[in-house]
Amino acid sequence: MVCCYCKTKLKVATMKVITCTAPVNIAVVKYWGKRDVNRVLPANSSASVTLDQKQLRAKTTVAASADFEENRIWLNGREETIETPRIQNLLKEIKQRAKETVSCDDSLLSWNVRICSENNFPTAAGLASSAAGYACLAYSLSQLYNVSGDISDIARQGSGSACRSIYGGFVVWDKGELADGKDSIARQIAPHTHWPELRVLILVVSDQKKQTGSTAGMQVTMETSSLMAARLGVIDQRIEKITAAILKKDFHTFAELTMIESNQLHAVCLDSYPPISYMTDVSRLIVNLVHAYNTYHGQNKVAYTFDAGPNACLYLLEEHVPMVTSLVQHFFPPIQGNKEFLTGLPVKKAKLNQELLSTIAVPIQPTGAIKFIIHTQPGPGPTLCSNKDSLLDNAGMPKAVVIETIDEPSTKVGDKDNQTLKNGVSLARTKVKGKGKTLKVLKSEKSVKATKKEINLKTKHERKDKLRSGQNRVSKLGKRRGEHQGRQAQVKRQKTSQK
Ligand code: DP6
Repeated sequence: MVCCYCKTKLKVATMKVITCTAPVNIAVVKYWGKRDVNRVLPANSSASVTLDQKQLRAKTTVAASADFEENRIWLNGREETIETPRIQNLLKEIKQRAKETVSCDDSLLSWNVRICSENNFPTAAGLASSAAGYACLAYSLSQLYNVSGDISDIARQGSGSACRSIYGGFVVWDKGELADGKDSIARQIAPHTHWPELRVLILVVSDQKKQTGSTAGMQVTMETSSLMAARLGVIDQRIEKITAAILKKDFHTFAELTMIESNQLHAVCLDSYPPISYMTDVSRLIVNLVHAYNTYHGQNKVAYTFDAGPNACLYLLEEHVPMVTSLVQHFFPPIQGNKEFLTGLPVKKAKLNQELLSTIAVPIQPTGAIKFIIHTQPGPGPTLCSNKDSLLDNAGMPKAVVIETIDEPSTKVGDKDNQTLKNGVSLARTKVKGKGKTLKVLKSEKSVKATKKEINLKTKHERKDKLRSGQNRVSKLGKRRGEHQGRQAQVKRQKTSQK
């Protein structure tokens, strides 16, 4: 571009920005073990159900600009290092694909990128957040560089299970045979609309970060479990059977295979050395509850599955949701006043069936054994959002970053409040967790510094004001009372300065 007055060349700051969302998926035939760690190639094929993004999704904005001096990434409001092998591999692969397919300009590929990503659910809660996160990153980058066609092998570079989140509905990830992993890709076997009655309940037993991550866990199993060979021998047949059950909407068989599969995954984990145990006593009681429910009905009405953590994912048909959620609340009562216990899709109230109740040999647990339940359903794959949904501002900086976490038990999850401080900085706080945790977020990184200063200034002024009002009061009072107040003010001053 040329200046219309002096005709000198002007540098135009260009930035391409893309925002996308991607879903979580929960495996019904689990991926556990790699045949090639560097290329993230699995030891076995797996199958999963992609969940609705209304309840669980990752959102990512990627921006590329000639003006960015370096690549940067922010995850859930905090800047993190971008120099991890997984992110670097993913970036390398997508650029390589763009070059091979000549999908975009070379200059766009040479620009640095900024990535900003957030989840609408607790990240460390063992809810397949890495699958949604890496699928979203791969999908957003594919939109940025106009890469078309299957990109599940690129998402796989971030996290194996992420390749399944590239598709909605019911998905199979074929392990592939080739050494370069070109045939280790995901494919949709049926869209989410195929089985409209299917529902999912996620019972969050712990929202703490797991002790053994899946990457490390599956490596130990591959190296030490002698039961693993038997497992690998039955997986392909299991995938075939569960695919047929899904296509026929045969819930009984789908549920049986899902439960057998989950049990076998946790058996090989226990057979690893040192043993890995992801399920807790509460997880096992959930298993007992599900089996008692199925026995009462004479066939499978609910299926459980557990990933690398204690949280249960229950598959069931819509008609059983009211009774199953009532039973869960009966045996695992929520902490009193926890209105966030059951979130997601609405659930009709069901009166507990006393006959059924008497067949369930599960002791009623102390309150809070299950933290909360998310009610959801199968959903579609990643989506491209509009510019107004961008997580980055016009300068390519995050619109919101976390500055502090505070405790406010009286507020509700999702509660928002906005405050405009003296310097015009806008402070937005959103309650994000069930129990007393509130994230305080600000509009941009620039404003974080300004606000931190503002908060300090405010407290300094407050201290001075307090001291001044103490002194004024002393001068107005009678001598004896004044002496008394003076002593009090002194104590107050000492306390304030100690603070
Ligand atoms: C138990 O995909 O997290 O959830 O490829 O090492 O990142 P990496 O592992 P990851 O493993 C998921 C394991 C699982 C089962 C599954 O989702 O299939």
